[in-house]
Amino acid sequence: MASKKILITGGAGFVGCNAAKYFGERNWNVTVLDNLSRTGTENNLQWLRDETAFDFAKADVRERAAVDSIVSEGRFDAVLHLAAQVAVTTSVIDPRADFEANALGTFNMLDAVRRYRPDTVFIFASTNKVYGKIVTAETVLRGSRYEYVNRPHGISESEPLDFLSPYGCSKGAADQYVLDFSRIYGIPATAFRQSCIYGTRQFGVEDQGWVAWFAIASLLGREITIFGDGKQVRDVLHVDDLLQAYEAAIRAPDKIAGEAFNVGGGPKQVMSLLDLIGMLEKKFGRKIPLKFDGWRPGDQQVYISDIRKLDRLLGWKPEKDAAAGVSQLIEWVKQNRSLF
Ligand SMILES: NC(=O)c1ccc[n+]([C@@H]2O[C@H](COP(=O)([O-])OP(=O)(O)OC[C@H]3O[C@@H](n4cnc5c(N)ncnc54)[C@H](O)[C@@H]3O)[C@@H](O)[C@H]2O)c1
Repeated sequence: MASKKILITGGAGFVGCNAAKYFGERNWNVTVLDNLSRTGTENNLQWLRDETAFDFAKADVRERAAVDSIVSEGRFDAVLHLAAQVAVTTSVIDPRADFEANALGTFNMLDAVRRYRPDTVFIFASTNKVYGKIVTAETVLRGSRYEYVNRPHGISESEPLDFLSPYGCSKGAADQYVLDFSRIYGIPATAFRQSCIYGTRQFGVEDQGWVAWFAIASLLGREITIFGDGKQVRDVLHVDDLLQAYEAAIRAPDKIAGEAFNVGGGPKQVMSLLDLIGMLEKKFGRKIPLKFDGWRPGDQQVYISDIRKLDRLLGWKPEKDAAAGVSQLIEWVKQNRSLF
């Protein structure tokens, strides 16, 4: 039987290169599309070449003609659309570039699928930022961590959308197009509203990918700026768990079509910024220099995903324990000093 074909946009990025390896190893015929704008992507591609077979298209999702030709010629069974401008802070500095990459880029991908192969399973990497500040979720400080008072299972998909920041708007617009193209044109498309994802091959920077960034900054002996008091809590999800969720979704197009899913570590896999600093200090055997600054706009004291819908519909739960997963990431950072 011929292998199934998957197109992974942003496939040279952190989640994308891990996804390309994952699907390649499972006998999918993988095409990676990326404009290589993110630092570390060349290195990710080089690594991927040793791991699995894949085709590479250097292309930009903002360019309709390029997207059309790749989608029409590829006739993919599934599209994993990860290519994006990924940092909130960058979106505030240049909202047009953010809009073009995220809203227009996603529209180009979706519209190509609509015209050339509407039965393609389309997974869009959306974000928890579509929920904004969630002012109705009350929090309380207990010890060194904030906790929810009235969201025991975390934030569910029924939370009202309330985009905050250009990034929230561009991703949120794309998220709504994805769900609507499923309803109107019957594309089996879904939006995965991802929380904090971490893992190896993540070239974290101060503005995005905080778990990897803290590890890299610790390795390099750089001062880490904590925006807020560091007691803010996030659910964290290892990239391997995310990839299993992607695969489960691709295998169940009828269940995911037109649905949004909150995808994160959930209430069991949570960490405050200071928890991570504590882990790093143990691993590196020294104090990590910290500087405290004001809260960033839109930053929540707590964000934890309610992941029960994904479990209910696809039988998915995260398997990787956060402490073990983060230790593995720290080891990777230590062993790859020359990359940073
Ligand atoms: N990592 C997280 O914690 C997280 C959380 C929520 C959502 N997401 C979403 O998941 C996706 C993957 O995130 P990541 O952490 O792997 O980010 P990443 O920056 O490592 O990967 C994104 C990739 O897209 C490429 N790219 C950017 N603009 C492009 C364009 N116009 N055309 C083609 N390629 C382009 C970049 O070169 C990069 O390789 C993104 O859509 C992101 O918004 C990530």
